[in-house]
Amino acid sequence: MDLRESIRTTGSVREFTGEPVSDATVAAILDDASYAPSGGNRQPWRVALVKDAEIRRDLAMLMQPIWDEYVLATRAGQVPFNAIDYRPVDAPVHIPNPLLDRIESIPVVLAVAADLRRIVAADLGLGRATVVPGASIYPFCWSVLLAARSRGLGGVMTTFLSRAEADAAPMLHLPDGYALAATLFIGHPVHQPTRLRRNPTATFASLDRFDGPALDHHG
Ligand SMILES: Cc1cc2nc3c(=O)[nH]c(=O)nc-3n(C[C@H](O)[C@H](O)[C@H](O)COP(=O)(O)O)c2cc1C
Repeated sequence: MDLRESIRTTGSVREFTGEPVSDATVAAILDDASYAPSGGNRQPWRVALVKDAEIRRDLAMLMQPIWDEYVLATRAGQVPFNAIDYRPVDAPVHIPNPLLDRIESIPVVLAVAADLRRIVAADLGLGRATVVPGASIYPFCWSVLLAARSRGLGGVMTTFLSRAEADAAPMLHLPDGYALAATLFIGHPVHQPTRLRRNPTATFASLDRFDGPALDHHG
């Protein structure tokens, strides 16, 4: 598959067959992903391949209430956890999530952490949520998923564990000064979605300024 097709057709996979994925394959995927860019080429990533069933269950228990809140807030018309106007909602209900309900049987669970000492947070202190630090870790995460796809695997990036970082840190022995960036779930897809729904370019790209004339590859 060529690069262009890969980046246009790698949809999230959340259900996996029982076929296992070897540690050697995971290591090879991470080796591919290690060629991702990062600020100053500081490569601030650390990865824990979480195999222990008890740790997995404990992590799922931490993620579940965050998922519940995410879904209920979405149903209430909010963009959950957004940094501008999110109003927390009570979420006392259990909302099923295939990743969490069957976390023991997911072939690969990766916790990805970022060394904050090796990340330039160019937009720190601007009085708003930072976004730039993520740019040194999420290209790596995405490359993990692309490298998995190139081997016939599928997966999804999630960030709900980050919200429970304080509780997850001792479970995973997260080093001091590191942030939990993502939890990646990977395996052989039951189905690999390839027809992805995305907004047309003209809705988000414009000329000269962000309110300039729409940039449209059809025009
Ligand atoms: C930063 C980030 C966080 C995400 N968090 C979650 C998550 O917590 N749970 C989940 O099921 N999917 C999560 N996803 C996957 C998105 O839902 C998915 O990429 C998006 O809906 C597009 O769907 P598609 O991949 O099927 O086209 C996340 C993706 C990103 C990039």
